[in-house]
Amino acid sequence: MSGRLSVIGLGPGDQRYLTQEAVNALHIADVLYGYGPYLDRVPARDGQSRHPSDNREEGERARSALRHAMEGAHVAMVSGGDPGVFAMAASVCEEIEAGPPAWRNLDVSIVPGITAMLAAAARAGAPLGHDFCALSLSDNLKPWETIERRLDAAADAGFVIALYNPVSKARPWQLSHAFALFSRHLPGTVPVIFSRAVGRPDESLTVTTLATAGEVAADMATLIIVGSRETRVIARQGKSPLVYTPRAMSKVPA
Ligand SMILES: C[S@@+](CC[C@H](N)C(=O)[O-])C[C@H]1O[C@@H](n2cnc3c(N)ncnc32)[C@H](O)[C@@H]1O
Repeated sequence: MSGRLSVIGLGPGDQRYLTQEAVNALHIADVLYGYGPYLDRVPARDGQSRHPSDNREEGERARSALRHAMEGAHVAMVSGGDPGVFAMAASVCEEIEAGPPAWRNLDVSIVPGITAMLAAAARAGAPLGHDFCALSLSDNLKPWETIERRLDAAADAGFVIALYNPVSKARPWQLSHAFALFSRHLPGTVPVIFSRAVGRPDESLTVTTLATAGEVAADMATLIIVGSRETRVIARQGKSPLVYTPRAMSKVPA
């Protein structure tokens, strides 16, 4: 029997965010791998085994799943949001490239999911209506100097910027440093969106400005969108504001 490995995006929150393709792929798998809290989101099915692992064990998790698939199982690896955005799909590819040549013959499919950035943007309005980029603030896998250079270049180039992994216990100061870097290029009035736990029961949304962004609490369940000079806030009575970036830009910014 030939095995296969599907890397499946669960979206940012509960079942509502699963695509039909993800539902089907989860249903037909014999074995599920993933970070424990993500696996807990998948309803149990008789005959399907589960292999939860810790957050920081991506490489070992990917290798175990690949070995299992090589034995003939249909393995599903679950990932929060989209599996290709700072997540397990790249980890699986890294292990295939470094692993035994036979792993390259395995049937591998990546099933996309709604990434946190898109769910957060939808909650706020349309902040990604013009050019944008996404950066991870985590320096676990790349040097902080590289992150600083990219933050600086992105703000200078006028992108709306989505920040993943903004803060952790081990990285308490990087976010305020990022806001300080942005302030060199952008006015304090630029809108900043903090979207926490989007799609989950405890979700929250805070819209503030770059000048006061440092006062808003963020953690590893927060996705931050920093607007550009063009990003606007439409105030509405009795309703949350609409934050959007117009699609057109008529002149080259100074
Ligand atoms: C390792 S990255 C994984 C991203 C994921 N693959 C995705 O596509 O959303 C984890 C970061 O994604 C963001 N994130 C993931 N789920 C989120 C959610 N439900 N609400 C807000 N941010 C979320 C946070 O910035 C978090 O620190």
